[in-house]
Amino acid sequence: MAEELIISKSADKKERYRTLLPQLQSLVETETDLIANLSNIAAALKQTMDFFWVGFYLVKGKQLVLGPFQGPLACTRIDYGKGVCGSSWKEKRAIIVPDVEAFPGHIACSSASRSEIVLPAFKQNEVALVLDVDSDKVNDFDVEDERALRDVMKLIERML
Ligand code: SME
Repeated sequence: MAEELIISKSADKKERYRTLLPQLQSLVETETDLIANLSNIAAALKQTMDFFWVGFYLVKGKQLVLGPFQGPLACTRIDYGKGVCGSSWKEKRAIIVPDVEAFPGHIACSSASRSEIVLPAFKQNEVALVLDVDSDKVNDFDVEDERALRDVMKLIERML
């Protein structure tokens, strides 16, 4: 059954994240299929945070393969260690890129993308997927985004 999100567009970023998390929890708790849940999480993040592009890349062998996302068309495969997503996978950590033009090896799926944040989700200490969020503004992500999106990744890790 579809649900509706309660979003206060006038609320600041912290407040929007704070109200989103419990709604994400209830959105995914009755569904066991990972792709179905990632799809709704991407849609909820896009709707609530108004991100330019938000989506998941799933580890498949030696590559990341595009999963559920919201936004313009994106690259389908990223090699281990390549771009921001591949670097997050290799280094097993969240990466904030304030200016994509200053990140060596950044993969430009869209020429409109200016800054980016990528966070990994782990299954038995190995990266199983990454969340990638792109903005069309420079320097659009900070530790507040990292903290809130980390909580989203913890929610996803419980499904892996
Ligand atoms: N910019 C990413 C590639 C994915 S797209 O932004 C959707 C990267 O450098 O890994």
